[in-house]
Amino acid sequence: MVKICCIGAGYVGGPTMAVIALKCPEIEVAVVDISAPRINAWNSDQLPIYEPGLEAGKAADLTYWESAARMIADVSTSDKIVVEKSTVPVKTAEAIEKILTHNRKGINFSILSNPEFLAEGTAIKDLFHPDRVLIGGRETPEGTKAIQALKDVYAHWVPVDRILCTNLWSAELSKLAANAFLAQRISSVNAMSALCEATGADISQVSHSVGTDSRIGPKFLNASVGFGGSCFQKDILNLVYICECNGLPEVANYWKQVIKVNDYQKTRFVNRVVSSMFNTVSGKKIAVLGFAFKKDTGDTRETPAIDVCKGLLGDRARLSIYDPQVTEDQIFRDLSMKKFDWDHPAHLQPMSPTSVKQVSVTWDAYEATKDAHGICVLTEWDEFKNLDYQRIYDNMPKPAFVFDGRNVVDVEKLRKIGFIVYSIGKPLDPWLKDMPAVVA
Ligand code: UDX
Repeated sequence: MVKICCIGAGYVGGPTMAVIALKCPEIEVAVVDISAPRINAWNSDQLPIYEPGLEAGKAADLTYWESAARMIADVSTSDKIVVEKSTVPVKTAEAIEKILTHNRKGINFSILSNPEFLAEGTAIKDLFHPDRVLIGGRETPEGTKAIQALKDVYAHWVPVDRILCTNLWSAELSKLAANAFLAQRISSVNAMSALCEATGADISQVSHSVGTDSRIGPKFLNASVGFGGSCFQKDILNLVYICECNGLPEVANYWKQVIKVNDYQKTRFVNRVVSSMFNTVSGKKIAVLGFAFKKDTGDTRETPAIDVCKGLLGDRARLSIYDPQVTEDQIFRDLSMKKFDWDHPAHLQPMSPTSVKQVSVTWDAYEATKDAHGICVLTEWDEFKNLDYQRIYDNMPKPAFVFDGRNVVDVEKLRKIGFIVYSIGKPLDPWLKDMPAVVA
């Protein structure tokens, strides 16, 4: 392998190629993308994504795999290994292979599936120390050769026993399966969190106890207002679709439920806010701390904050939103988008022009919380742990409420200050016990 061309300079392509370039100095790495502004940003000091450990460097740089495959067929003059890296529906590799081989006779294309498991916010660390690298290819002499070539690239920094080789479809399906398992874990904990609130158990204690079973393990057991991000929902929807196409409705329904519980958790949170605040948030200012789908990223794709904000706006709250990495433009774009919903296709509509007036975005947590009746913590940014909550409390009308969707605030400390605090899956404040949240 002397040259790697990566199509797509997004959250996966950018960091992955930066790491390959760093670890394999003898390989020429080029990154292409259909968006010129994105390439310009990679070539500047203002990278288009925020990722700890990734500093501005050099990249050169599409979007959809079909046009990418046609382009590869158009420009290829010698044999190529084509690596499908982005998360795609199962059997996309086969479709790519057909496009390539039918459009370019006389050239051998070997298709590999090499799904990326990095998580945003820890991309560089995940790339340096992956749990495993998965390479799927055809079980033919050419396929085996192509797998070996890609294996040699990763072997520059990944122990060979962590490089797993499978057939094409196993590799593609493994990625969907891994994300579905992870999302299912969160929905399981979140379903438990509702039961904890109803019974007086504490989800952190339950998660810890459950996670000490070595068969279950301690990671990825944090209750939250819901999972977000570009992968989980999309991959489960993909999985559901594949199951339905293959005549497996029971399996499809099983995975669908993971998304339904996630939607339930967001609705439950909104209902808790409304019921705690005397059954209405109409005209009240609510500060939203955090909009990104998790900390250490400015990414808002499928962030639970979108549904929570829309839910609160539906009850005519005034929102003041602060996130250290998300721009005002992005927040307005997100709140204007329609959302996919299994059971209520018309349920969550884009913001009406009146709702737009009810939203303001600030660059400071103290500004966002000033004169607010309640605070919703929707992303677990570290800085939200260390805010001066006494100062915040002093600047709020009373009773002052905090609704922590990420279990980041010190509940006891805040209650001592005078806040009424709701924290997902934690024993309820006596105030809240008298105001049970009803899920519509
Ligand atoms: C995920 C997978 O982890 C990664 O392997 C895959 O390549 C892409 O999808 P990512 O979407 O970047 O990565 O974030 P991840 O850390 O998995 O978190 C996803 C969502 O789950 C976030 O909204 C996060 O806040 C939430 N989450 C995670 C919880 O609510 N509780 C947890 O315990 C962990």
